Amino acid sequence: MALVTTTKMFEKAFDGKYAIGAFNINNMEIVQAITRAAAAKNSAVMLQVSMSALKFAGPKYLKGMVDAAVYETGVDIALHLDHGPDLDAVKLCIDSGFSSVMFDGSHYDFEENVKKTKEAADYAHSKGVVIEAELGRLAGIEDDVNVDAANATYTDPDQAAEFVQRTGVDSLAIAIGTSHGAYKFKGEAKLDFDRLAKITENLEKCGLKKFPIVLHGASAVDTEVVDLCNKYGAQIKGAKGMPAQMLRKAASMAVCKINMDTDLRLGMTAAIRKALAEKPEAFDPRGYLGDARTYLQAIVEGKIDDVLGSAGSMK
Ligand code: G3H
Ligand code: 13P
Ligand code: ZN
Repeated sequence: MALVTTTKMFEKAFDGKYAIGAFNINNMEIVQAITRAAAAKNSAVMLQVSMSALKFAGPKYLKGMVDAAVYETGVDIALHLDHGPDLDAVKLCIDSGFSSVMFDGSHYDFEENVKKTKEAADYAHSKGVVIEAELGRLAGIEDDVNVDAANATYTDPDQAAEFVQRTGVDSLAIAIGTSHGAYKFKGEAKLDFDRLAKITENLEKCGLKKFPIVLHGASAVDTEVVDLCNKYGAQIKGAKGMPAQMLRKAASMAVCKINMDTDLRLGMTAAIRKALAEKPEAFDPRGYLGDARTYLQAIVEGKIDDVLGSAGSMK
C-alpha cells in the first residue's frame, strides 16, 4: 500500500454524490484518530498539512506518520499540502512524497493567479502529483451580505471554467459562503448553491465534466464541543460554524472534497482540558492524549456519516 492521489477518489465521490473529508494534521494522535475513523467507516480520506504544520512537525515526520497510517489502516489516503503559498512550498511537499498539493493564489488578481497556478500545476503534473487551486475569497460573512458584496468575493462562475482550462488544475476550491476558523458568521450560515450549480454548468459547457469542487472552512463548530471546552476553563465566545445538512447538500452536487480543521482543534482541546481537570493527579501524557485521540476519532466518524457520506467508499 502507498499513498494515492485524489483522481479515483474524486471520480467515485462525484458519481456517488458524496465528498472526501480533508482533515488537517499536526501530530501522531491526530493522524491516528482520523485514519482509524476512516478505517472504521471503510472510507477514503485526505490528510492535509498547512504551512504552519509543516514548520511545526517537518515534512519527514509528517510523511513518516502518514506512511505508517497507510500501512496500519489499508484505506486510501492522500497526503496534501493545504494553502501552499508559492512554488517553493509546492516543490518541497512534492519532493517530500506528498501525493497532492494546493497552490493558493486566491489573493492575487485573476491573471496573476492563473500564471502562478499554472506554473505550480505543471510542476505537480511532471511529478505525477495532483493539484488544487482557489478562485474567489473566503471571508467572514456579515449578517446581511448583499449581492454586490457576494459578487466581489465569491467565485465568479464565468471565470471558473477559464481558470481551470488555462491552469490545468485537478480540482478547484471556491468561495460560496464558507469561511475559515471558529467565528464564521454573525447571522445565519448560508451557502450559495445557485452559484455552485452555475460553476459546474460552465465547467461542463467547456468539456470539463464531473470536475471536482472543494469547500474550505467547513467546520461545524459544534456547540456541544465548544461548551465542553468552556466548562473546563476555555473562553470561546460567539463561535459559529457550518450546519452539516448544508455541506451534505453541497457534497451531493459537485463538491468532492470538504476541509475541516477547527473542529479537530476544538475537539482535542475539549478532551485534554476535561482529562486534566478530572484527574489533577495524573501526569502521563498518554492518558490525556489517548483520551483526545479517542474523542477525535468519534468526531471524524460523525463527519463521515453526517457531513461527507463517504462511508463504504473503499468498496
Ligand atoms: O486553513 C487553514 C487551516 O485551518 C490550517 O491552519 O495554518 O494554523 O495550521 P494553520
Ligand atoms: P475550518 O477552519 O472550517 O476547519 O476549515 C479548514 C480549512 O479550510 C483548511 O484548509
Ligand atoms: Zn482552507
